[in-house]
Amino acid sequence: MSTPPFVKAERLQKLPPYLFAEIDKKKKAALAAGRDVINLGVGDPDRPTPAPIVRSLQHHVENPAFHQYALDQGAPELRRAIAAFCRARYGLDLDPDSEILPLIGSKEGLAHFPMAVLNPGDVSLVPDPCYPVYRSSSTFLGAEPYAMPLVPELGFRPDLDAIPAAVWQRARLIVLNYPNNPTGGTADVPFFQRVVDRSREHGLVVAQDAAYNEMYFERPAPSILQVPGAKDVAVEFHSLSKTFNMTGWRVGFAIGGAPMIAALGQVKANTDSGIFTAIQFAAKTALEQYDALTPPIRALYKDRRDAFVSGLRRLGWDVPTPEATFYVWIPCPQGYSSTDLCARLLDEADVVTTPGLGFGKTADGFVRAALTVETPRLLEAVERIGKLAL
Ligand SMILES: Cc1ncc(COP(=O)(O)O)c(C=O)c1O
Repeated sequence: MSTPPFVKAERLQKLPPYLFAEIDKKKKAALAAGRDVINLGVGDPDRPTPAPIVRSLQHHVENPAFHQYALDQGAPELRRAIAAFCRARYGLDLDPDSEILPLIGSKEGLAHFPMAVLNPGDVSLVPDPCYPVYRSSSTFLGAEPYAMPLVPELGFRPDLDAIPAAVWQRARLIVLNYPNNPTGGTADVPFFQRVVDRSREHGLVVAQDAAYNEMYFERPAPSILQVPGAKDVAVEFHSLSKTFNMTGWRVGFAIGGAPMIAALGQVKANTDSGIFTAIQFAAKTALEQYDALTPPIRALYKDRRDAFVSGLRRLGWDVPTPEATFYVWIPCPQGYSSTDLCARLLDEADVVTTPGLGFGKTADGFVRAALTVETPRLLEAVERIGKLAL
């Protein structure tokens, strides 16, 4: 008797098709053919983790006590370092024992947090475009993601007044991401205040993804917890990945009101067993040396941003300058969808970008370029794009 073929669970079947698959296939084919591909497709820093952090890991990895299971709630030393960082950087007063939870990267927390908040049939308000995890984590739970369009005319902030009353009533969670991937949009404290007020009014929880908070160029990005009383309704997710070129290390943290942090901890206690303790101590070193380690990283991306954006503008492209993140959100020339434009840039200029459509339906008029190659390569990308005369 033959074994019946494996059938995926319905929750996976419900996920939207993987829109980057076609571009991925073409990129791999171009590389296999030996073409000189400039990859602006992935949001992964190209520079190495700063030496003091690497040395810290090398030191702590020698400690046999760290070879055992880590504490679920994270090392107290790291939680205290996070509290000190949040006080110095944002003026926050956080209890390291109840309002801080280290994460295996912010993605892990963002994926798990809805399990602590949503019941089947609840609505979660998610930006469109967005980091795809917000939608998929809600879908997995039988909740219903409701798209809040992010458009340039509104500074890539959702129009809260455009959300119908019936949706507010069913909503339990609102996800924000500022500074924003993929649009580069930013938020200020008055905007966060409006979201907190609305959430309080309608009994929602706010998840603010601050993965790019330290990658700002003009003015420091705020924390939603700077809004007085925000801890009652908001949890903010931070990441060391982009801040310190540490994407592979998998370390981030959640901060917010104790009951919500405890609920997230309860989900995590049932799904993972903490972060390798040596990595937690290296993360502590990173946060303690934030003032020395992050300015050169910011300066690097600012130089790249300025070179790339002004290069595209010289070609006549109307590209806004992102105030934060290492993404440039490029409006497609007239007549192009995001997938058409990405395909042309790859096929004819060997430049990989990401189609806006992959981040949400409202973003089909944009492609995203990540500033994760050196400036001369960015300028070469501009030159190649120029030759297409789009
Ligand atoms: C908006 C956003 N949030 C979260 C993450 C995940 O970061 P981490 O490496 O901390 O899991 C990313 C990674 O690209 C991101 O773009």
